[in-house]
Amino acid sequence: MAPATPNRRLLVTHALPYANGPLHLGHLLGYIQTDIWVRFQRLVGHEVVFVAGEDAHGTPIMLAAEKAGLPPEDFVARIKAQHKQDFEDFGIVHDGYHTTHSPENRVLVETIYRALDAAGYIARRDIEQAYDPVKGMFLPDRYIKGTCPNCGAPDQYGDNCEHCGATYSPRDLKDPRSVLSGAAPQWKPSEHYFFALSDPRLQQAVADWLARAQVHESVKAKLREWLDAGLKDWDISRDAPYFGFEIPGAPGKYFYVWLDAPIGYFAALKAYCESAEGKKRGLEFERFVRDPGYAEMWHFIGKDIVNFHGLFWPAMLHGATLREPTGLAVNGYLTVNGAKMSKSRGTFIQARTYLDAGLNPEYLRYYFAAKSGPGVEDIDLNLDDFVARVNSDIVGKYVNIASRCAGFIEKHFDGRLAVALGQYEEVLARHRPSEAERALYEQRDFAALIRRAMVLADAINEWLQQVQPWRLATDSSRREELHRICTTGLEGFRLLTLLLKPVLPRLGAAAERFLNIPPLTWADAARPLLDHPINPYQPLATRIDKKQIQAMIEASKEDLAAITPKAQAAPVTDRGAAPASATLSIEDFGKLDLRIARIEDAQAVEGADKLLKLTLDLGALGKRQVFAGIKSQYAPEALIGRLTVVVANLAPRKMRFGVSEGMVLAASHGDGRPFLLAPDAGAEPGMRVK
Ligand code: 2FM
Ligand code: ZN
Repeated sequence: MAPATPNRRLLVTHALPYANGPLHLGHLLGYIQTDIWVRFQRLVGHEVVFVAGEDAHGTPIMLAAEKAGLPPEDFVARIKAQHKQDFEDFGIVHDGYHTTHSPENRVLVETIYRALDAAGYIARRDIEQAYDPVKGMFLPDRYIKGTCPNCGAPDQYGDNCEHCGATYSPRDLKDPRSVLSGAAPQWKPSEHYFFALSDPRLQQAVADWLARAQVHESVKAKLREWLDAGLKDWDISRDAPYFGFEIPGAPGKYFYVWLDAPIGYFAALKAYCESAEGKKRGLEFERFVRDPGYAEMWHFIGKDIVNFHGLFWPAMLHGATLREPTGLAVNGYLTVNGAKMSKSRGTFIQARTYLDAGLNPEYLRYYFAAKSGPGVEDIDLNLDDFVARVNSDIVGKYVNIASRCAGFIEKHFDGRLAVALGQYEEVLARHRPSEAERALYEQRDFAALIRRAMVLADAINEWLQQVQPWRLATDSSRREELHRICTTGLEGFRLLTLLLKPVLPRLGAAAERFLNIPPLTWADAARPLLDHPINPYQPLATRIDKKQIQAMIEASKEDLAAITPKAQAAPVTDRGAAPASATLSIEDFGKLDLRIARIEDAQAVEGADKLLKLTLDLGALGKRQVFAGIKSQYAPEALIGRLTVVVANLAPRKMRFGVSEGMVLAASHGDGRPFLLAPDAGAEPGMRVK
């Protein structure tokens, strides 16, 4: 079959993961979609360069490295190695995997910045910013917490209130505190550098780009809305200390991470083009970044970062007279069992936890594909449906065809396929992969593609059920019929393998070994496999056992997360990059206000598997409501009246079910069974524990 379009060259990227933590299934959704599309493009004969890397800069990574007691470079390298292993295990194969903290990126960032500056797109002006006098650094809004100026909810971030939804400036917060040191922030002026997005030339350029770019209509509408409202200049500098690249000619000023992150795509491309493999492929970096006729450029991203990729990035590229993206492929969020991923429910699942439960990574690829349409909708990983679907589609339908037919070919025909399908060709005729399937892949409508594949699988299985090769095999006079039927079945299996190969690359490769054929290409769809020796059949896929899912959930549950309010950033004292210490001073210990509490009331919390809502009497300190992750171990009524120990000076934390005003202490092996502490007789509510 001739390709529908002449061979294309494509540069494809996915969002660069921050180098500050493990990948989770939410990350994998977008990365898997990217990898499937890349594999499809190659299957139909196009040339793809697929690069990505670590998004290495910024305050959170700097602080995480400090907490780990490592220089940021080493910290990033450690996370990068983990991410690479996850990618490999999930079959996400990049041509090049780099990092934004690289010499290539530094040069590119400086070059682009200088071009923008020369064209008059960089403005400098003083702004006032919150400064942590203890930590000695300016504070991003997320590092300031205080009382919401709108509704009075305590413990809200500096930019918006999770309780009432109000957005505001951190200056408006009541009783603001640095989450790093607990100190009250000061307001200090500092000169910042801005990318002049308010310049009409840039806004016009972005509007022009948007008109021709291949971006889903709903995303385009959002981007147009922002453009119509008018863009403001974008603050692209941060003051030291900051992990990033210093701005040329501006000592102590660093490029904001989001300025250098997308340029990291080019850095990864450059490193790859200059590698032995890139050179062998004859890839020309300068043409990639300057000449849209040389290659298409596609960015796969999540819907939360379309402003960076659909406004700022094209504007930067235009301002620096570089090529703009061909298209953006935008994915929605991942939910698990219909809800936001949750640590306490065990649905905040890391890539590694999935693998450690013994689950086949290709099954997740399949499920994500089966749910991925061309739009930007959120995708739900329903774990029961996941098990049912994989066991039914992959094991029960697709692979089952091979296992039903292969034995007869081996036993009666010396492992050789028939020379013709004869009248049975009809069974497959309507289903041979063609333009329609190709278009579905191209539009990233993987869900529709998989539905079509399963129509083919169902058709073959139903037909086999009718013609019953196992009965024919008992009649030695009907050998030719048997031969053609099993060959037809395996031809259907081959077509399914071709269709599903971008989604299931390892299973596809194993199927190719079984069929004893070189890697399939799209053109092979029209050429039936006949008169050909195949290999003995080995089971290709096994069913998911629900116990594996349970194990994954259990491993994902952080029991402490339910007991210890999450994100109460442990106050970091300003000791530079000293390794986290195992000891603490008596003064530090003295900051903990531990009290005896009487549990006055205990109730289950609707919608929370692990939580009990406790009403505590702290004597002179009054009553408190505390949520504790102890439901697995304690019946609520058995707790009423007993004494326990509570951390009384923890900042109140808003949880989904209400505000938790402290933390009860419990012992645990970390195996999910908490044991509450209890004082000896004589202790009374409100007594201090020292
Ligand atoms: O949102 C994120 O996770 C960013 N690390 C994505 C960066 S994409 C690109 F611009 F580098
Ligand atoms: Zn509020």
